[in-house]
Amino acid sequence: MGRVCVVIPAAGEGTRMGGLPKQFNTLGDSPLLYQTAWAFECHNRVDDIVVAAPADTTAHARHLMSGISKLVRVVAGGATRQESVAAGLAAAPRDSVIVLVHDAARPFIEAAAITEVIAAVVLHGAAALAVPVADTVRYAEGGFFTGEASRRNLFAVQTPQGFRRSLLAEAFESCVPDGAATDEVALVRACGHAVARVPGRAGNFKITTGEDWHRAERRWPAFARRNYES
Ligand code: CTP
Ligand code: MG
Repeated sequence: MGRVCVVIPAAGEGTRMGGLPKQFNTLGDSPLLYQTAWAFECHNRVDDIVVAAPADTTAHARHLMSGISKLVRVVAGGATRQESVAAGLAAAPRDSVIVLVHDAARPFIEAAAITEVIAAVVLHGAAALAVPVADTVRYAEGGFFTGEASRRNLFAVQTPQGFRRSLLAEAFESCVPDGAATDEVALVRACGHAVARVPGRAGNFKITTGEDWHRAERRWPAFARRNYES
């Protein structure tokens, strides 16, 4: 089926967590970045791991990832997530056929979800996890609601997102990197390619705020026991 590489963007500043580089914060017994990479280290369909870290911490990131045998490169990320992913993609081994992109800030990723995304990429060329939006959604501006929206066909998109490597490379080459796209699905769709939706998991949330961090700390021991201890 060809080699599979996962690019892990981990070059953010953690602004919404108070300027804390959350990817280096300890979750359980290791840094968050390591815990997230571990899911891919343990997955038998994933061959290579590339990390994009803040430019001034690549050596530090490399050091703390020393237990990850599939790590091939730690590259300097950019000012936007899109730039970080582009740098990671450029460092993926040449013979990668499928490239997954997964946020460092999403440690609760189950092996089955990774398997399902890869399977959908094989079938459709591009795929991402997404969950139905549960809340009522509505437009607002200037402190007042301005319009109704239907949540019927609305999904919250997660990672991993997976692509045939050639398709993702084409998307990065042909789309103007204005940083506006918040994920790779937007880039690939802008190029006119269909992206398949794979059912996500509520547990696969992104650690964004301090509150998320506390939730993650509470959930991690049971998740790690269930997924990583036999
Ligand atoms: N990321 C990245 N390069 C950037 C910005 C973000 O690699 N220039 C990564 C983050 O490290 C994270 C993922 O993209 O793993 C999702 O981003 P987010 O949750 O927004 O993290 P931060 O950008 O660090 O947080 P904030 O937006 O609050 O500053
Ligand atoms: Mg961000």
